[in-house]
Amino acid sequence: MQTATPLFAAKDIARSFGGLLAVSDLSFEIREREVLGLIGPNGAGKSTTFNLISGFYAPTRSKLFIDGTDAKGMSPERISRKGLVRTFRHGSLMRSMTVADNILIGTLGSLPRSERAERVGETARLFSLQAKLDEIAGILPHGLQRLVSIAFASRPRILCLDEPLTGLNQTEVAATLEVFERIRDEFGSSVLLVEHNMKAVMQVCDRIVVLHHGRMLATGSPDSPRSARDRSLPRSKSWALTRSFWT
Ligand SMILES: Nc1ncnc2c1ncn2[C@@H]1O[C@H](COP(=O)(O)OP(=O)(O)OP(=O)(O)O)[C@@H](O)[C@H]1O
Ligand SMILES: [Mg+2]
Repeated sequence: MQTATPLFAAKDIARSFGGLLAVSDLSFEIREREVLGLIGPNGAGKSTTFNLISGFYAPTRSKLFIDGTDAKGMSPERISRKGLVRTFRHGSLMRSMTVADNILIGTLGSLPRSERAERVGETARLFSLQAKLDEIAGILPHGLQRLVSIAFASRPRILCLDEPLTGLNQTEVAATLEVFERIRDEFGSSVLLVEHNMKAVMQVCDRIVVLHHGRMLATGSPDSPRSARDRSLPRSKSWALTRSFWT
């Protein structure tokens, strides 16, 4: 559902590296309770966009709004405190600690002490990790480790994930997608999903943004793509490319 003030809005963001324009003229929003997919070929600018909106890269040009508040220039920590939380595929997991402690540490910056135990419990339930709470995270199967590293985000308003399905087997992918849906439906969070696994994207995303050479090529629901009319491409080429990502 589109609201007057979207949860998050990026307007005209751009970032270049030396002479290379990695992202340009990109505007999109993340709405309440949606899984938004950010897709595109290698080098399209997905991770750059991801790093720009989470405050890890300084933009060449941009306007970022969280809840209508100007977030340009905010530190990654401040953006995270406002509810836009990213995880690090390898860095978010504290391997020698228990699952419970991993989830607990994720609550430290956002919750008073008295509310943390309850949050650990509800997060574990949502991620189906209740039976693993006392186990050491680093010796769990790969798919569970990935879930623990995502559970670290606690209860974000917007959870941003860069290729969270890489290296997972089919069963683990299915379990992880189910968790994304529960995060949306039960926590009321939104999810920004950067992913190459098109089948998974089509299955779980409410809307999709397609990037190509740093620009938006198309956007819409997985059922009805709309070409974004990238001015750098002829219309027919833009549409053909859009279809190639959609099917
Ligand atoms: N730190 C950097 N320094 C220089 N160039 C960079 C840097 N980060 C990204 N780029 C370049 O910017 C462009 C976009 O890269 P980006 O990593 O955002 O693409 P991507 O869509 O995430 O690709 P992939 O699917 O391979 O992860 C690429 O041409 C890349 O080489
Ligand atoms: Mg990337």
